[in-house]
Amino acid sequence: MRSGDPDIIPPQVAALVEKKSAQGSALDSNQKGRAQMKAIVYPKYGTPDVLELREVEKPTPNDNQVLVRVHTVSLNPAEAHMLSGKLMARLLGGNGLFKPKQTMLGADIAGRVEAVGKNVTRFKSGDEVFGRKAPNGFAEYACASENALALKPANITFEQAAAVPVAALTALQSLRDAGQIQSGQKVLINGASGGVGTFTVQIAKSFGARVTGVCRTQNLDLVRALGADRVIDYTREDFTRNGQCYDLIIDNVGNHSISDYVRALSPKGICVIIGFTSLFLLLQHLVLRRLISKIGSKKINMMLAHITNKDLVVLKELMEAGKVVPVIDRCYPLGEVSEAYRHLQTRHAQGKIVVTLEQNSKT
Ligand SMILES: NC(=O)c1ccc[n+]([C@@H]2O[C@H](COP(=O)([O-])OP(=O)(O)OC[C@H]3O[C@@H](n4cnc5c(N)ncnc54)[C@H](OP(=O)(O)O)[C@@H]3O)[C@@H](O)[C@H]2O)c1
Repeated sequence: MRSGDPDIIPPQVAALVEKKSAQGSALDSNQKGRAQMKAIVYPKYGTPDVLELREVEKPTPNDNQVLVRVHTVSLNPAEAHMLSGKLMARLLGGNGLFKPKQTMLGADIAGRVEAVGKNVTRFKSGDEVFGRKAPNGFAEYACASENALALKPANITFEQAAAVPVAALTALQSLRDAGQIQSGQKVLINGASGGVGTFTVQIAKSFGARVTGVCRTQNLDLVRALGADRVIDYTREDFTRNGQCYDLIIDNVGNHSISDYVRALSPKGICVIIGFTSLFLLLQHLVLRRLISKIGSKKINMMLAHITNKDLVVLKELMEAGKVVPVIDRCYPLGEVSEAYRHLQTRHAQGKIVVTLEQNSKT
């Protein structure tokens, strides 16, 4: 492995490779002779320190896939849970009870199309795209289904484009599908300053809603700047106990009880729970939400975002119209991906955290 070549590998990455090579983990001998690429892997569950830079086999697209030369990758909390290997993540993630079967992380990408399978019709070599890759990986190349990609809008950077897929799809689908948002509605967004929340505020405004964003003191200005009509500082005020009611609550944090949501909803109001902070609250939400929806006029929904080319195109159009601008907290080089995950784990990023594959971005 050419870990010392400064034209190919930036210094931080070279240092990481050398550290891991010294531990005898850099190159799997049975991969010699095949086209290789650099990728970040987690051979075991643990803290971000277990992440290693390795040479792995470069993927080949099947007939329905697009091979993307990756420029940027954004981080999502689900991957941090997978990495940590906490019991619930092991049980629900299906990625191996004792050690990870799929050892790569990073799902949201932006980059340039390098090659396409013979059935691919929407993309051609050289197109700038964003979307979700399969299998996951902070890697120089990724294969993705053409249904999981869209053309990158010309008015946003690769860093911004990588920030979009999971977070913005979650925002769009929670408001439009699970939340059935209508123009003029009073919408509250808990966790308005994070990866999902910064998109939720902007997309809710694009639907014509009157938006209240909930965040900590340091983020009030950011949430206002994104278009929120009102902001609530959760360190001073509990939105579920101030006497205000909302037609739609999107909870990106999941730190309230079902009775809190019911209290803060207008008659016929809908609450959509996106995230969770404790197993107790998750179980309560799962068990009681159906009961609440059956016995009264208020609804508590939970949702899982799904990737579709159609919705990526909806987001592309919102960005082209200037109605949605991805918010980037910080960009890290590939060699600092452990640092990037540590920052994500604080749960206080302002918008999205992005990792840049500098060597790919220069060409
Ligand atoms: N259901 C799905 O399909 C789906 C998809 C994507 C993500 N998610 C989940 O949604 C959640 C949010 O994801 P994300 O990417 O937005 O994460 P993130 O970027 O880490 O954002 C975390 C958010 O939580 C807020 N927060 C932290 N502590 C808080 C507290 N004590 N009270 C109120 N708010 C608090 C932060 O705001 P401040 O910094 O202002 O405190 C920030 O807005 C995660 O649990 C994630 O797993 C679910």
